[in-house]
Amino acid sequence: MKSTAPIGAFDSGVGGLSILREIRRLLPAEDLIYLADSAHCPYGIKPLEEIRSRTLEVSGYLIELGAKMIVVACNSASVAGLDQIRAVHPEIPVVGVEPAVKPAHERTRNGKIGVLATDLTLNGSKFSLLVEKYGADIEVYTQPVHGLVELVEAGRISDPETESLLHQFLDPLLEKNVDTIALGCTHYPFVRPLIEKIVGPEVLVLDTGEAVAKQTVRVLEQQGLKNP
Ligand code: DGL
Repeated sequence: MKSTAPIGAFDSGVGGLSILREIRRLLPAEDLIYLADSAHCPYGIKPLEEIRSRTLEVSGYLIELGAKMIVVACNSASVAGLDQIRAVHPEIPVVGVEPAVKPAHERTRNGKIGVLATDLTLNGSKFSLLVEKYGADIEVYTQPVHGLVELVEAGRISDPETESLLHQFLDPLLEKNVDTIALGCTHYPFVRPLIEKIVGPEVLVLDTGEAVAKQTVRVLEQQGLKNP
């Protein structure tokens, strides 16, 4: 595999661009191929098996296009198919995304965190393991989110309708007095200004873009695949 080959990244739609912009910032010399699987968006409310097969198909296509590495820039697809991509393409390094429960555990002051994510992510065994590992000594409140991905896809990231939808999901977390909220879907960073407006300055909002980009750098360096 050549270090000058591109990195392939995908999501159900535009969400993964929140990851890609961090990768571009940390790795300006890399060529990037981004696939938005808009025809099958949203992923997060579909059956796991269906998203697993999309994940395999899309990553296989990126590898056919010459990708040296796959970034699954989607929490739902990471839950559904990360292990399967690694099993089918053992020669290709694969980086996935998970909700920022570990950083939230490190940063919370009152021991109460909230996680916003899709049904697929919250119902997956990967998420249960994450909460077992980092949530044992804190209170973790999960909030499945519906309808927001569609609004982000439509570019309606500062609409009153988006704001009132966000209230539906954030108000219950605020009632629990969480002081840290993890954005467990790569679409949500695009509405971060609205989220921060609703939760106020006392609540810390975390996303995973930078952490995933740093992991991408580490993996490329370890494998000798960083583009010179
Ligand atoms: N952006 C994705 C995620 O991180 C997928 C959202 C969706 O398509 O439902 O989960």
